[in-house]
Amino acid sequence: MAALQFRLVVSLCLLALSAVVSAHNITDILSGFPEYSVYNNYLSQTKLADDVNSRQTITVLVFTNGVMSALVAKHQLSVIKKVLSLHIVLDYYDPKKLHQISKGTTLSTTLYQTTGNAPGNYGFVNITDLQGGKVGFGSAVPGSKLDSSFTKSVKQIPYNISVLEISEPIIAPGILTAPAPSASDVNITALLEKAGCKTFASLIVSSGVIKTFQSALEKGLTIFAPNDEAFKAKGVPDLTKLTNAETVSLLLYHSTASYTPKGTLKTTTSPISTLATNEAGKYDFTVTHDGDSVVLHTGVDSSRLADTVLDATPVAIFTVDNVLLPAELFGKSPSPAPGPAPETSPSPAPVLAPSPTPVEAPSPLAASPPAPPLESPGGAPADSPAAESENSKSANAAGHVGAPALLILVVTVAATVISSNILS
Ligand SMILES: *[C@@H]1O[C@H](CO)[C@@H](O)[C@H](O)[C@H]1NC(C)=O
Ligand SMILES: *[C@@H]1O[C@H](CO)[C@@H](O)[C@H](O)[C@H]1NC(C)=O
Ligand SMILES: *[C@@H]1O[C@H](CO)[C@@H](O)[C@H](O)[C@H]1NC(C)=O
Ligand SMILES: *[C@@H]1O[C@H](CO)[C@@H](O)[C@H](O)[C@H]1NC(C)=O
Repeated sequence: MAALQFRLVVSLCLLALSAVVSAHNITDILSGFPEYSVYNNYLSQTKLADDVNSRQTITVLVFTNGVMSALVAKHQLSVIKKVLSLHIVLDYYDPKKLHQISKGTTLSTTLYQTTGNAPGNYGFVNITDLQGGKVGFGSAVPGSKLDSSFTKSVKQIPYNISVLEISEPIIAPGILTAPAPSASDVNITALLEKAGCKTFASLIVSSGVIKTFQSALEKGLTIFAPNDEAFKAKGVPDLTKLTNAETVSLLLYHSTASYTPKGTLKTTTSPISTLATNEAGKYDFTVTHDGDSVVLHTGVDSSRLADTVLDATPVAIFTVDNVLLPAELFGKSPSPAPGPAPETSPSPAPVLAPSPTPVEAPSPLAASPPAPPLESPGGAPADSPAAESENSKSANAAGHVGAPALLILVVTVAATVISSNILS
């Protein structure tokens, strides 16, 4: 009886964990189709694959190697990323639904619309059911032609992901010719100042950390810049008490030596190393997300990822609401997740231990201010309306339970059942 119950608990756990991990893997889906290998390769290079995997109810419009090769031969990676993101439709279209579009034509939101780079309806595609069973695709910008057409169905996992082949890339006006700054031209301090991060900008200049950032620009760099309010918040340690070396570590802790856009943060389950990581300290942090909100956890405090200042492969710059306090500088010892198992741990308990998602416990060390509510405060530049409606849609989608909450629930159920078994 106990064994049966235990098996039930274990399978409950596995079920819950698999719901936490993303439901589909676009790289894996496309790997079965060599005719899309170039497309697949660029989905990985641009990290758009992570975006696709972190979302539900999505349609990926793919094109064959010949078409894709012509595109990539002429354009740099950040432009290719924009074009591909216009082919990731934030809705589910299988071949049947393509022919059931009401009034035969619709505009659908794409991932490009959520980047904040798309003016007006440049981030939407027009899908039109044409005469004779043909389905045309084009930019939603008025006057655009429906140059591309549906050629075949590649794969469907009903209502989660659909992959459809189209004949030609959909090109929004100007998307190929908009000046794309090369990584070496990015002026980090100018961007940070404009985004309301003057304190952080001046600290990275005065400490010399700017040189480290600049030399990382070409290979991949992500910066999490606290805004000016973050440095004034209650509970922020007195930074003037830090040694120069500690200041440098604190600043470098707000960056990673790789291009890590939001979709990648959402799909990362292991701790993320930072530019401060060295032999003397891990200086890493973990990430959780709920729908489209991403929260970084240092072990001492947490911060919401606020705005995207720049997302241009291989450089991403975000603002964060709180100064990220590394445990190496501000925590005696980062508190490990409290084990739910009773002290006289029965042998089955360890099975529960290897959870791939770190359970963030509300740290008793948290002398620092609590993370602000996940909603954008009134003053902060809000996402575009389209992105917002998309957010609320995904927040409403079934199965969007925050990972830690779900794990805690399952672990609690497991612990209860196990202890009742011991007692009986
Ligand atoms: C679709 O995604 C949900 C949530 O991740 C998952 O529970 C469901 O099993 C998926 N559907 C299929 C057919 O895989
Ligand atoms: C997705 O599939 C690819 C290819 O099969 C694999 O290399 C990759 O690790 C998978 N990603 C995840 C998050 O499982
Ligand atoms: C889609 O494009 C066609 C052709 O330009 C146009 O007639 C139609 O009105 C567009 N659909 C929508 C919903 O705007
Ligand atoms: C970057 O912008 C700052 C203003 O924030 C300016 O002082 C500096 O000269 C610029 N650097 C370069 C290399 O253009």
